[in-house]
Amino acid sequence: MNRIEGTSPTGRVAENRSPSGATRATVEDGPPRSDRYHRATLYITLIAAVAAIGGLLFGFDTGVIAGAMLFIVPDFHLGPAEQGLVVGAVTFGALFGALVGGSWSDWLGRRRTNIVAGMSFIAGAVFSALAPDVDALIASRVLIGLAIGLTSVAAPMYIAELSPARNRGKLVSLFQLAVTAGILVSYIVDRALAPEHAWRWMLGLAFIPGALLVLGMIAMPESPRWLLKKGAEKAARQALALVRRPEEIDAEVKEIQEDLAHNQPAAWSELLMPGLRPALLVGVGLAVLQQVTGINTIIYYAPQIFQEAGLGSANTALAATIGIGVINVLSTLIAIWLVDRIGRKPLLIAGLTGMTISLAVLGVDQRFGKALGANPQWVAPITVGFVGLYIVCFAFSLGPIVWLMISEIFPNRARARAAAISTAANWMANFLVSLSFPVLQVMIGPSLWFLYAAMGVAAFIFVIGYVPETKGKSLEDISRQWRPEPAGIVITQ
Ligand code: BGC
Repeated sequence: MNRIEGTSPTGRVAENRSPSGATRATVEDGPPRSDRYHRATLYITLIAAVAAIGGLLFGFDTGVIAGAMLFIVPDFHLGPAEQGLVVGAVTFGALFGALVGGSWSDWLGRRRTNIVAGMSFIAGAVFSALAPDVDALIASRVLIGLAIGLTSVAAPMYIAELSPARNRGKLVSLFQLAVTAGILVSYIVDRALAPEHAWRWMLGLAFIPGALLVLGMIAMPESPRWLLKKGAEKAARQALALVRRPEEIDAEVKEIQEDLAHNQPAAWSELLMPGLRPALLVGVGLAVLQQVTGINTIIYYAPQIFQEAGLGSANTALAATIGIGVINVLSTLIAIWLVDRIGRKPLLIAGLTGMTISLAVLGVDQRFGKALGANPQWVAPITVGFVGLYIVCFAFSLGPIVWLMISEIFPNRARARAAAISTAANWMANFLVSLSFPVLQVMIGPSLWFLYAAMGVAAFIFVIGYVPETKGKSLEDISRQWRPEPAGIVITQ
């Protein structure tokens, strides 16, 4: 995918038109420029893919529990409160992990924080698979949550800080692609192991990607932006040399150093000051809106939603749920294809439009379908169709772009902390929406879809009014956009 981009006609024309580039190409030693470009592109894709294993585990560990609970409940004789604790422990851990993920990413570095997340995933997988009782199971689920929180802060940020501006969107979106793949794999694993009631294997299998994450990250370079922040210029240049063309390195090091020289690291309290507040508002706003538009009611409760709409047996409902998982993965590819071409905002706007329309149709279908005397046979297919459309639209917009923008909109001096707050807000909202869904369903029934649709409208207005376009800009360019504009500062287009 990236190889094709590297040799795209646009890229070539740009290179050949530059007179200095042309001269350099004839006098430089070593492999030809296009080979080095391909090597750098392949390497950064590998780096992004390794870091994205954290996303795979995020998706797997949040998805797998639904199927595993069917057997954990009778094995441990769990009551409703204990069931809630086993399921909710991950979200609690993720909230905590997201909060500490900011400080740890600044203190240990982005790479090591991802390694700690991987180790925590491994420990959580092993302990939960071997858990002798419910307390041990809950504790290991908190550990897994901690890992998910850490990875959801550190992985997108690590990828963004190593990526060239032209490809950053698609590379960071690999994280969300991995989340969706992890959810899908968890559905499949649950189904495959259900006949043996093998819940310990369902949970324990996460050991394998956990080990791959740790081993893979050990071999990866540290983020050059973090290294420069620590004054380690030589190491930063070595890291950049792996993922950039040689002629790009000096300019990028200079740009980052200038940015760091003019901007002292931000204290936590400074995040609310006028200089950083607008960016934080966008980060937290997007993070919360990603959840309150209802995605996880579908991801976590799809079989129930389908069955209540009259979709035959539990088996048909489960098959439709796997279908949703497949659509989620495939539609994320649309974002990977388009996010660096048409930009973040058009995708967000198109996605939110589709999501809001789907939610409104679901509300009408389920609330009024039968009452209006429509053929009840239509309620189920309309539900499946519009749940599907909703997932497609989420998957190419809010799904990947929220993680992407959280990783790119904050200035170097505050990125880790502001990303941590935004991510924690995402987990908090996730927790509240998942917790409130069953209660709200009883209280307001299908009108709940209208509530999510209203949130979709709010998100639409928020994106149009507050969210900047970041396509193709360096991270330093993006942070300059937020600063008040004294004479002489050029805001890039
Ligand atoms: C969200 C998760 C959601 C997943 C679905 C992620 O971007 O943060 O809450 O379950 O997408 O694909």
